[in-house]
Amino acid sequence: MIEYGKYHFPFEEKFMEEIGFAEVKDHKKKHKDFVQKMDHIALQMHQGDNVLNSEILKVIENWILDHILKEDQKFIEHFVRSEQGAETMTRLKT
Ligand SMILES: [Fe+2]
Repeated sequence: MIEYGKYHFPFEEKFMEEIGFAEVKDHKKKHKDFVQKMDHIALQMHQGDNVLNSEILKVIENWILDHILKEDQKFIEHFVRSEQGAETMTRLKT
């Protein structure tokens, strides 16, 4: 999950910049906060601290429900509504 974020987020952030998504700065901060949260959990586990599976699952669940299903949809909608998105959609349909 941590590695996924570290490789996927830069790609997603560059995409948002290229399509002119206005909320990119705030979105980047959410990515950064998530990576820090997961790094903190990984460090705790590495140090032998007791991290409840339920805590980890809660972080991941929140990420999926609040970020992937809500925040990521905003830039996807922006892309689809944009001229660039319309061209891409037309090209994919033909
Ligand atoms: Fe995102």
